[in-house]
Amino acid sequence: MPPEATTAQKRFLVTSALPYANFDIHLGHLLEAVQTDLFVRYQKLRGNTAVYVCADDTHGTPIELSSLKRGITPEQLVAQVHQDHIRDYAGFNISFDIYGSTNSEENRRYAELIYENLSKNGLIVEREINQYFCEHDKRFLPDRFIMGTCPRCKAQNQYGDVCEVCGATYEPTDLLDSRCYICGNAPVMRKSKHLYVQLGKNEKFLRDFIETTGVLQEDMRNFVKSWIDEGLREWCISRDGPYFGFKIPGTTDKYFYVWLDAPIGYISTTEKWCKEKGQRVEDYWKSESGTEIVHFIGKDIVYFHALFWPVMLKYSNFNLPSRIQVHGFLTIQGEKMSKSRGTFILAREYLDKIKHPQAPEYLRFYFGSKLMPNSSDIDLNSTELLNRVNTTLANNIGNLHHRTFVFCDRYFEKKIPDAHWDEAIATVVEHAALEIAGYYEKCEYKSVVEKIHALGSLGNKYYQDSKPWELIKTDTQKAAAVMVTCVNLIKAIAVFLKPITPDMSGRVERQLGSVFTWDDALFSLRNKALGATEKLIKPLEEEDLAPLFTAATAREQQGKEGLLEIEDFKAVDLRVAVITGAEKIEKSSKLLKLQVEIGKEKRQIVAGVAAHYSPEQLIGRQVVVVANLKPATLFGQKSEGMLLAAQNADGSLVLLQPERGVTSGAKVS
Ligand code: 2FM
Ligand code: ZN
Repeated sequence: MPPEATTAQKRFLVTSALPYANFDIHLGHLLEAVQTDLFVRYQKLRGNTAVYVCADDTHGTPIELSSLKRGITPEQLVAQVHQDHIRDYAGFNISFDIYGSTNSEENRRYAELIYENLSKNGLIVEREINQYFCEHDKRFLPDRFIMGTCPRCKAQNQYGDVCEVCGATYEPTDLLDSRCYICGNAPVMRKSKHLYVQLGKNEKFLRDFIETTGVLQEDMRNFVKSWIDEGLREWCISRDGPYFGFKIPGTTDKYFYVWLDAPIGYISTTEKWCKEKGQRVEDYWKSESGTEIVHFIGKDIVYFHALFWPVMLKYSNFNLPSRIQVHGFLTIQGEKMSKSRGTFILAREYLDKIKHPQAPEYLRFYFGSKLMPNSSDIDLNSTELLNRVNTTLANNIGNLHHRTFVFCDRYFEKKIPDAHWDEAIATVVEHAALEIAGYYEKCEYKSVVEKIHALGSLGNKYYQDSKPWELIKTDTQKAAAVMVTCVNLIKAIAVFLKPITPDMSGRVERQLGSVFTWDDALFSLRNKALGATEKLIKPLEEEDLAPLFTAATAREQQGKEGLLEIEDFKAVDLRVAVITGAEKIEKSSKLLKLQVEIGKEKRQIVAGVAAHYSPEQLIGRQVVVVANLKPATLFGQKSEGMLLAAQNADGSLVLLQPERGVTSGAKVS
């Protein structure tokens, strides 16, 4: 049965941006997943249909490069990472209805369909451009397959699109001393034909979409309008093979650029879910379906979602997004998260290092308590995390819950007594329900949490002022009324918090013997047996957070000052080793496979010295190696360590070796 959209019941298809399949989930991904999950859980709690779709974004050069570095195929990488992503999100109770992959046959079919419809409608044009080509590897080299010297700061070994040292962005052709990433040879320039979408032909459509539909929040709408005003450039959607992605029909060796098939993953993953559930994808993605498509994304990918994506959808008569909810970036202790600077926290690190059993839910609560419907950045600060959790959840709501249920256990035989609740408080809750619902709809979660906090404070004040511990001696019925009021208030708070802290609300549900929907926020309980009292909240202690945040703060300090603690230096195990064997690695002009002995221990190390030493020059030499480096696989060869070398101004390498012979395995410090 297709789900009917009635006036009472709405239907949503909700997405988070698809994470790339070459990297672990970090807290930046989680900020978005939590923001989305709160929306989805709220809609479901209201009785609306909300399908939460996400998937891995599996194609493109970075994926190919990552798999090359690990010595596995892109397919193997994508399969491994998929499991890790599912596991990490599950650790934070993110309630995807399906978590798919863009590397699927469904996705290929939709990518081809959308491309053909763009083509049929005269939107695709072919252009010839100059591009780097490696004659050794017989392939065109996309940005990340080119290394060279940054044209701005002259840092060596930078990729073809961005310098990780000074942050400059440039064209691959601007790079100095360009080399092929795979073989190290200088590339040549070749002409190549590429396919472009003529976005400008849709200027009017896009203007209407952005300006009249309310799809974007105010701050973002103005941004996107200014991009349209500046003129819509043609968008290149093809890449030369070899490329990990989908071949473009009708071409010999062209592939869809990853950003073409990535958002199509929203549709293909919905289709997969529909097949599993006996539903029809048309009921979600056809423009007349009545389903509201809601995309949650970061502010770095607005162009793709607000300009390219609607044009892709339009020509295949797919449903346009009703809402693109854009959030800001996550900062950690006031610093930008950055992979290259090592100032980011992985989801897994958070789960493993904070031993407190409710820590994942507390992060959901913390993000909720900060998120507003704008694109301002959100900071994760360990002191604030501790304070917010303890102030609102432990000391306020936890306290009201504890004192109420303990009282009922003790004086009312583990029952909610039979009495009438306080009408004034019941009315406050009724009004709060409307207000909180409005905040959830707008994704104004910070106000949701503030309102809930105010209800907790109201309950505690009422309890305190009513003095049930005195009433129980003088007027049992009045004491009973206080308890009935407080239990119903706790129930309401648990309902309001359910999208944010589902586990915690689940404990209240078990105690009260029912699974809440939104309407359960209204006062309804009296004269009912209570389940066992479960402690709702265990407060956070500084020691809980220290293992995670000291590491992040130390990394952050290092990043800021470029200085190491002596302990960090001592952590590097430097040893004198002897090279006992050396040979070239097929297909690589940079790498040599070395056999070394560190004392009695034999190891294999792959070293990037082939351009500077022949294998024969190395055998028998003493060198200095990093002995406690994580093993890596390079060109399919295991490498268990690293040789130390110095680099001359001309780029040539000179290996470090002891000034006199030293016992093999000697520690270097
Ligand atoms: O920026 C990113 O991380 C992309 N992988 C997001 C893709 S979202 C969607 F369009 F697929
Ligand atoms: Zn090459």
